[in-house]
Amino acid sequence: MVESWVNYAERIGSDLHLELSGPGSKRAALIRALREAVHSGRLAPGTRLPPYRSLAADLGVARNTVADAYAELVAEGWLTARQGSGTRVAERSRPLHAAVRTRRPATYRARATRHDLRQGTPDASGFPRSAWLASYRRALHQAPNEVFGPGDPAGRPELRAALAAYLARARGVRTQPDRIVICSGFAHALRLLFGGGGGGGGGGGQPLRGPLAVEAYGLPFHRELLAAEGVRTVPLPLDEHGARVDRLTRERAVLLTPAHQFPTGGPLHAERRAAVVDWARARGAVVLEDDYDGEFRYDRKPVGALQSLDPERVILIGSVSKSLSPAVRLGWMVLPERYVGDVLAAKGEREAWASVLDQLALADLIVSGSYDRHVRQMRQRYRRRRDLLVAALAEHAPHIEVTGVAAGLHAVLRLPPGTERSAVKAAIWQGVALDGLAEFRHPDTDMPAHDGLVVGYATPSEHAYAAALETLCGALPPGETQAS
Ligand SMILES: Cc1ncc(COP(=O)(O)O)c(C=O)c1O
Repeated sequence: MVESWVNYAERIGSDLHLELSGPGSKRAALIRALREAVHSGRLAPGTRLPPYRSLAADLGVARNTVADAYAELVAEGWLTARQGSGTRVAERSRPLHAAVRTRRPATYRARATRHDLRQGTPDASGFPRSAWLASYRRALHQAPNEVFGPGDPAGRPELRAALAAYLARARGVRTQPDRIVICSGFAHALRLLFGGGGGGGGGGGQPLRGPLAVEAYGLPFHRELLAAEGVRTVPLPLDEHGARVDRLTRERAVLLTPAHQFPTGGPLHAERRAAVVDWARARGAVVLEDDYDGEFRYDRKPVGALQSLDPERVILIGSVSKSLSPAVRLGWMVLPERYVGDVLAAKGEREAWASVLDQLALADLIVSGSYDRHVRQMRQRYRRRRDLLVAALAEHAPHIEVTGVAAGLHAVLRLPPGTERSAVKAAIWQGVALDGLAEFRHPDTDMPAHDGLVVGYATPSEHAYAAALETLCGALPPGETQAS
């Protein structure tokens, strides 16, 4: 064991204590010691490390050993190296014990996130900046003056017409522009449908009431939002064919993700699609179709919108949050005729949510073909990432089954019962942020729990993806033969 205090107070005003111990080479021990010092917060972000020569002399190791260790930690993102400012602790390296639990006990959020594999957001580096700018410019040039006055709560006619045509072509939706109401995204649509006023700026009315059946695994944010509106949600169990719609009873509405169950990943079986529409007809109920990532399908035949089975019984809700960016805040509701009036009343007299100028830009993006081009490009990119994920798991963690990969921007890695919590912790320990399936489970469901990791493969930028996969594979629980 080599132990040393490196005094470099003259240069940076602090001491660095490093303890080189444990198995392996001195280089490996030094990497471990430095990582631990950053992890624990002893070395704060921005701290300048001693030059190779002085650290090497102090530890009694070769200068190259220190250089190699620094280079490795720079590659991993723990340190940064810049000409003239030396090697420093990276600004993003926060102490690991700063990993915090959010509201739910099973959820951990690593602040020291080096690789963000949480589901939810598309690759922000893929936003079609030039195309959006061109559309915005065209839209502004062509806009009549009335565009700059108060907006129509239904949304701009240009966008509703563009969406009616696009959704018919790309998702098989049967509708017309006057059945489409623009909103700021899926969450806003839920607020409008169940809360009436939409949380402010709206004009009252309440198109739908609970109780609302939901899938036993789903986005907790949506359940919480509904609870805040006073809507009781009733969990429907899931099996390999999707939601058990045969369990629907006296609810007035059901919320489903038919194209790609969120988060477990499969499509709703064709018989169940028909069955849920029959149920809605028989009970005078309504189906809410969350079409959150319908554009991103890879291997299987496209699954069209459930809405096409009965446009008078299904409300389709979509947004650009996955296809473009959640920052744009634009979405749409495709409504049965009988709900249009109530939804417009809920929105109020003027558009208070969705920027009219953004609406015009999106309309142009769609009509000009740029939206299709962008979606096709991103589909290729995500498919490639999905393939890399599957290949990396086959090579490094063949004991782990990966599911839900035929579509969407995330996959589920199935784990043996009782291992999810420790697997999430292990990933966070390695600087990989992701969620376990438990995070998405409805608190009232009695269906058996599934252990698994939800891996979003869209969020890292292109250049960071390979490193993210490598770190993920290194953090996964070992198989039986590997463990023994
Ligand atoms: C299951 C699910 N539904 C809907 C959405 C879209 O939400 P919003 O349009 O409010 O951004 C998301 C996230 O993008 C989602 O994960």
